[in-house]
Amino acid sequence: MNGIRSILLPVAGSEYARSHDTLLMFILALTVIFFSLIAVLSVTFVWRYRRSRNQGPTPHMTHNTALELTWSIIPGLILLVLFLWGLKGYIAAGVAPLDAMEIQVTGKKWLWAFEYPNGARTINEIHVPVGKPVKLVMTSEDVIHSFYIPTMRIKQDVLPGRYTELWFTPTKAGMHQAFCAEYCGKSHSDMLAKIWVDEEAAYQKWLEEGDEHTRTMPLKDLGRLIWENRGCSTCHSLDGTRGQGPSFKGIWGHAQKLADGKTVVVDANYIRESILMPQAKIVAGYEPIMPTFQGLLREREIQAVIEFIKSLQ
Ligand code: CUA
Repeated sequence: MNGIRSILLPVAGSEYARSHDTLLMFILALTVIFFSLIAVLSVTFVWRYRRSRNQGPTPHMTHNTALELTWSIIPGLILLVLFLWGLKGYIAAGVAPLDAMEIQVTGKKWLWAFEYPNGARTINEIHVPVGKPVKLVMTSEDVIHSFYIPTMRIKQDVLPGRYTELWFTPTKAGMHQAFCAEYCGKSHSDMLAKIWVDEEAAYQKWLEEGDEHTRTMPLKDLGRLIWENRGCSTCHSLDGTRGQGPSFKGIWGHAQKLADGKTVVVDANYIRESILMPQAKIVAGYEPIMPTFQGLLREREIQAVIEFIKSLQ
């Protein structure tokens, strides 16, 4: 069974995974058994009771109470077992333990923003310690999204104007991929987040120091990293290709035509404004769809994006 499990299902990364997978395998086994039974009986009966030319009229069919009760009651009991087993898992998944670490999650077109109890903010990635329960309190700023971590076996809709919750206890260190599982527009499939499950020591270090090497790396390189990891790359290309937003290539120092007919020269202030107040100046021919990064990027990170764009001549 474990062999089949590993072929059919992703790695088991949370405490849920084991019990959910066992139930799923049980249902799969039942399905195979009943499919085979019904298929074999159907073929046997079709062959055995076929109508042949030398027989007289079709014999009169009557019923068999004992047989009918048996094939109703046994499957009925099996269904009851499935229901209670499923209900047990459903209730466990519905209520997070009181000591769970709470992370606020905001979904928006097209990124995931996270906020920690200590005020730390991240985009498209979180770090959590292995073996400790984590509770995600989620909402959306625009349309319906859905937070889905297959290796944790959890998925929950993320709705505007309402909070939904999800909790899990990670059991496997390493990177777990989260997806958006509700079609939310053009870049739905790029709405990804990395769930890093760290050993306790590594987690504490990350909490205290942040990412050591991003704090010291050159601005231009940090800018590229932010472009990759914070959702910029979803809409802004580096090679002049038209995306949901203008490409970053070769815009530095050049005039951009705006939707309201004015023009603006791309300089540090313009880029800064576009990051923090994206609706202030919309480039002609593009939709005003960029979310604000106010509070999501540190001052140094904004400078890094500016330096990065400057370098793309
Ligand atoms: Cu967000 Cu699909």
